[in-house]
Amino acid sequence: MVDIADIEKSALGPVYPPSPRVVAEAHVKSMEEYRKMYDRSINDPVAFWGDIAKQFYWKGAPEGRVFDYNFSKSNGRIFIKFMEGIKTNVCYNVIDRNIENGLGDNVAFYWEGNEPGDDSKVTYSELKRRVCQFANVLKAKGVKKGDHVAIYMPMILELPIAVLACARIGAPHSVVFGGFSAESLVDRILDSKCCLLVTADGLYRGKKLIELKSIADQAFQILKDRNYSLKCCIVVRHLLEDLDKKGPQEPPKRPSNIGWNEELDCWWHEEVANVSDECEPEWLDAEDPLFLLYTSGSTGKPKGVVHTQAGYLLYAATTFKYSFDYHHGDVYFCTADVGWITGHSYVVYGPLANGAPSIVFEGLPVYPDAGRYWDIVDKYKVSKFYTAPTAIRSLMRFGPDYVKKYSRKTLKVLGSVGEPLNPEAWRFYYEVIGNGECSISDTFWQTETGGHVLTPLPGCTPMKPGSVCFPFFGIKPVVLNEDGNEVQGQSEGYLAISQAWPSTMRTVYGDHERYENTYFGKFDGYYCTGDGCFRDKDGYFWITGRIDDCINVSGHLTSTAQVESALIEHDLVAEAAVVSYPHEIKGQCLYAFLTLIKGAEFSDEVVVQLKQQVRQKIGSIAVPDYIQDAPGLPKTRSGKIMRRVLRKIARNDHQLGDISTMADSSIIETLFQLRPASL
Ligand code: WTA
Repeated sequence: MVDIADIEKSALGPVYPPSPRVVAEAHVKSMEEYRKMYDRSINDPVAFWGDIAKQFYWKGAPEGRVFDYNFSKSNGRIFIKFMEGIKTNVCYNVIDRNIENGLGDNVAFYWEGNEPGDDSKVTYSELKRRVCQFANVLKAKGVKKGDHVAIYMPMILELPIAVLACARIGAPHSVVFGGFSAESLVDRILDSKCCLLVTADGLYRGKKLIELKSIADQAFQILKDRNYSLKCCIVVRHLLEDLDKKGPQEPPKRPSNIGWNEELDCWWHEEVANVSDECEPEWLDAEDPLFLLYTSGSTGKPKGVVHTQAGYLLYAATTFKYSFDYHHGDVYFCTADVGWITGHSYVVYGPLANGAPSIVFEGLPVYPDAGRYWDIVDKYKVSKFYTAPTAIRSLMRFGPDYVKKYSRKTLKVLGSVGEPLNPEAWRFYYEVIGNGECSISDTFWQTETGGHVLTPLPGCTPMKPGSVCFPFFGIKPVVLNEDGNEVQGQSEGYLAISQAWPSTMRTVYGDHERYENTYFGKFDGYYCTGDGCFRDKDGYFWITGRIDDCINVSGHLTSTAQVESALIEHDLVAEAAVVSYPHEIKGQCLYAFLTLIKGAEFSDEVVVQLKQQVRQKIGSIAVPDYIQDAPGLPKTRSGKIMRRVLRKIARNDHQLGDISTMADSSIIETLFQLRPASL
């Protein structure tokens, strides 16, 4: 959590004006202009979004109200409907429409591989052909409109191609981040009832080989044990193709052995060789689902967030255009993986909807060295760059020399997303990386919101380091107190949104009640973000952190309950409690307290096994940095674990606050003594 006292200090200044290089050409050049547009977006959303919709392709007209929603459970079911009745196709809008507008020969994606020098690109016309081919492959495999397709891939061009092919035929995609384990993949395939999986033989992340297909094979085994079968698994020959082309390399660029099931598996390149490169888009209703994407939930089980066609398209397109002040001629680089919402909205859909060239980067910021991002920036003349605070902080540690080795002179806007960008990291971003000449867009948003919610606009907003500034068009944020009342002026409280915007998530897949309870249950009439915030006297918003049981590790939300249940599955563990702990680079990391079963002994070996267990059940992002022995856990009289107290113990802070509700406080001293020696 960010400390309010620190925020209050930062809120007093200094304030940085938008970069003059950006203002000169900006879409929105003054705060006055921003306010005018903002007011219209709130007071007349139908006219505001209607004007934007004119740039896109639709068939027919909306039936009934263009924008209709209910955010109040006391008025009945929660729903959001935007342009319902009109027909469209998002893939057509982000590819074919650009070709019709003369952008066919422009680059849609630059691909930059893990190894420098390993690169390729695809123009809008080529992208269309490749997407249509793959769409025809999916159809030939029996995938129909409304079927769900799981995608578990490295950051290679086939990933956005698979995503767009699904969009073309109206089969919602469910992308699973390539760092997740076999069991996480299974959970997501089962929950969303996917009928087909697209994957690749493997990938390198830096020097580390990840054998994706063999993880997928483990997933198939688990699925088989649960009597669930897929139509087929389409495998991209990514590492092996390199071996075919270039021969053995150092490090050996191949998975050790790739399992093959003749009945299930087929190669991507063989399948696309035999199909047409034309495919008529499926004309879908504005409210048909476009994709599902899983995000951590506070009860442990991930939630399948559902986004639909028209609202998501317009919102991703508009936020991309204004938050990064995109202009024809810009080259845009977002470092996020398509496995996360940032990759969906700001590697694939948002940039393509604007006809932009976007970079798909397979590698790491620190491989082969900490200058990799800036090498890419110079190589492609990147003007708009978007990354996460954790990456900025990890590069800060290497010092400015790696940055200064490269010119970076094309950069104009630097974006950030995923977690609070602390003022120190903000200044490194602004002064060192941006040479003091770029605007910073610290964008606050969520998987659930589809696109940016609070952000400065690069051409007009005076920036305060650490603040996400003001609402984007269409967003009406409020600060609520514990009783659910709106508080005005300078205030601290729950960040909620009081009016629907086009890309509000529509439901949790298969569990609308969970959707209503999670987001609309706490405060009637409001979408609750789950984040705390501070609004300063100038109206700037500052995010203070999650208020639910999720912990933001390196910008990835991790559910404490899910990690705890992965730990508890170990035979020797009786009870587990996971809390956050500050981490210089990740922002926060996980700290686990473990009570072992009677007679079991806590040892380094157990710690190693437990870390392995979490890696296998969820993935490496969920592995706790610290695991400590806890012969007992502090609990309330009703048996609830007091995580607030555990957080203090982890931090060696003896000011425990009110512990009068604790059933037995005798364990506290022992827990302080058993803190890991490494701390
Ligand atoms: C956090 C990522 C502070 C927040 C797009 C939110 C942020 C969660 C910021 C959503 C930011 C995202 N400043 N915190 N600029 N952006 N967050 O669903 O806690 O992976 O609720 O979406 O990340 O994470 P998600």
